[in-house]
Parts: sequence; C-alpha cells; structure tokens
Amino acid sequence: MERKNCSMANLLLIGVVIAILCSEIKCSFEDNFSKSDCPDSHFKTSEDGQIWYLSLDNKAGCGFMTRQRYRFGWFSMKLKLVGGDSAGVVTAYYMCTEDGAGPTRDELDFEFLGNRTGEPYLIQTNVYKNGTGGREMRHVLWFDPTQDFHTYSILWNSHQIVFFVDKVPIRVYRNANYTNNFFPNEKPMYLFSSIWNADDWATRGGLEKTDWKNAPFVSTYMDFNVDACQWEDPFPSCVSTTTQNWWDQYNSWHLSSDQKLDYAWVQRNLVTYDYCQDIERYKVKPEECWLSPWD
Ligand SMILES: *[C@@H]1O[C@H](CO)[C@@H](O)[C@H](O)[C@H]1NC(C)=O
Ligand SMILES: *[C@@H]1O[C@H](CO)[C@@H](O)[C@H](O)[C@H]1NC(C)=O
Ligand SMILES: *[C@@H]1O[C@H](CO)[C@@H](O)[C@H](O)[C@H]1NC(C)=O
Ligand SMILES: *[C@@H]1O[C@H](CO)[C@@H](O)[C@H](O)[C@H]1NC(C)=O
Repeated sequence: MERKNCSMANLLLIGVVIAILCSEIKCSFEDNFSKSDCPDSHFKTSEDGQIWYLSLDNKAGCGFMTRQRYRFGWFSMKLKLVGGDSAGVVTAYYMCTEDGAGPTRDELDFEFLGNRTGEPYLIQTNVYKNGTGGREMRHVLWFDPTQDFHTYSILWNSHQIVFFVDKVPIRVYRNANYTNNFFPNEKPMYLFSSIWNADDWATRGGLEKTDWKNAPFVSTYMDFNVDACQWEDPFPSCVSTTTQNWWDQYNSWHLSSDQKLDYAWVQRNLVTYDYCQDIERYKVKPEECWLSPWD
C-alpha cells in the first residue's frame, strides 16, 4: 500500500499542510472555529481570546467545530473539565467527517464522563468507520482533570490512530495490511468539542443524574494545536505525504520504545472497559482486536 513513487505521491498531495500553534501565536476563535448550537451566554472567551469556556445548563449546551477539514495529522488541545458535582455531564472532544450523526460517518472520540464530587471521571474513547462504532474503551486518569489543564491529542496517519493524554499514549488503533472496514482513512474530518447532558448513560451507567442546582457546568479550552493536512476540494486531497511531515514519517507509524512502556503501564493500571474483551457483547472478537498495538 505504501507509495514507492515519491514524485507521483507528491503530485497527489493537493491538500495544504498547515501547522498552527495557538500557544505561540495569537489565534482568534473566529479564524478557525465556529460555534454550534450555542446561545451567546454559553460561549465565552477570556479577554485576550485565548481561553474558551463552554457551558451547559438545563436549557442548552454548547459546542464548536473547526471551519476546515483535515486528513491525517496531529490534533491537540488543552482542556480543563467541569469540577465539583459533574455527574451526568459529558464533555466530548472529537473528530468527525460531518456535523451530525449520519449513517456513513467516520469519527474519533474522546468523551469525558463527569461524576459526583470527588468520584473519578472516566475518559471514553471510540472509533467509527462508515457509521459503525461500538469500539469503546474507558480509562481512569492518573490526575484530577478538573484541577488543571491537560493536553488531549490525536495522532492520525495511515498506519495508526493514537489517543494521547499529555505525553502518554492511552490507546493505539492500528490499520491492517489489507483493505478493511474498521480503519478510518479515506475521509477528512472536522474537530469538534461540545458539552451536553447524558445522564441517561454517562455516570454509573445512568444511575447518577445531573443535579441542575450546580449549573452552569463549564469546560475550558486553550492551546489548539493542529499540524495536519488541510483538505481542499476537489477530491481527492491529502492522499499521501512523502514530505517532511513528522506525523506521517516512519517514527510516527509506531510507538517509540518509551511510549510502549507508558502504554503498557496504562493498560495494566487504568483500563476499566475494553470492547475487545467484552465477550458478552461481541461473541466473535472484532477483527481489529487481533492486531498488535505495535509491529
Ligand atoms: C504487507 O505484507 C506483505 C507480506 O508480508 C509485505 O510484503 C508488505 O510490505 C506489507 N505491506 C505493508 C504496508 O505493511
Ligand atoms: C486558521 O485560520 C487561518 C485564517 O483563515 C488559516 O489560514 C489557517 O489555515 C487555519 N488553521 C487551521 C489549522 O485550520
Ligand atoms: C457504508 O455504509 C453504507 C450504509 O450502511 C453502505 O451502504 C456502504 O456500502 C458502506 N460503504 C463502504 C465503503 O463500506
Ligand atoms: C463515578 O464514580 C463511581 C464510584 O466511584 C465509579 O464506579 C464510576 O466508574 C465513576 N465514573 C463514571 C463515569 O461512572
């Protein structure tokens, strides 16, 4: 599947590789994002525009999405989650091929499931290909995500998708060496975040309900950092990248040896649910579950 002919591959690279690091340059929300379903009072920024606040009350939530779509790259942001009693509240931070839950979408999800005061948040990740998800993993974190900002990132290339918390890879989702129906790699995605009420399922399986006395619930964002291929029509774009994109070079096709150690530690200590091990739900183990996280 690798392109041997580099000049050919370069010709096919129609998309523009862009990098933007909002911690180093001022970047305004409006340049790169738009709000979705937000009453004005539910979206605020700090005076200098660099910190963004999304809030949820019993009338509305709020979300934002990038104006551009990207195919492959590095996507990163710092988040500080709703503190105190946040049971029932979910902050989603994800990539998706469309603004909606259409039947053929691809999606890469981080979801932060709130909890009663002092009880641990869970971080749920999921991968959708052509409308099919059901690939949840859940982890507890090694810190309280409501106290400080932490960095949540996705590395996406044609070999692997890696979910990172700070520098630690918590989940590796690998492509296979054959045409498959589980690895999203064809369609460009937007990056989204939103805060919403999910007290029918999120906390202790829906037993703990949102306590609206604590509203508004606020999640906070900064340092949007994208180094990626920005999709440009006409189709197809961002086909192959043999240029100097670190996120699509050999070293980004696998975890490094240090990352493997961190990943193994996470697997041993922090995983609370893995669909690959859920034999009640999947009588036949999904095919991607047989792939090694490194090879
Ligand atoms: C796929 O497997 C074949 C046979 O082992 C190998 O020759 C080829 O290089 C592999 N391709 C990739 C993209 O890993
Ligand atoms: C952000 O917006 C600017 C101005 O429209 C644009 O040049 C840049 O490519 C955008 N960055 C990303 C990461 O989309
Ligand atoms: C994607 O899903 C749709 C609807 O479920 C199906 O008709 C289509 O064949 C699928 N496409 C691919 C490439 O698998
Ligand atoms: C919330 O706390 C309870 C009790 O500690 C725990 O069982 C659960 O996994 C935590 N997280 C969620 C999202 O339910």
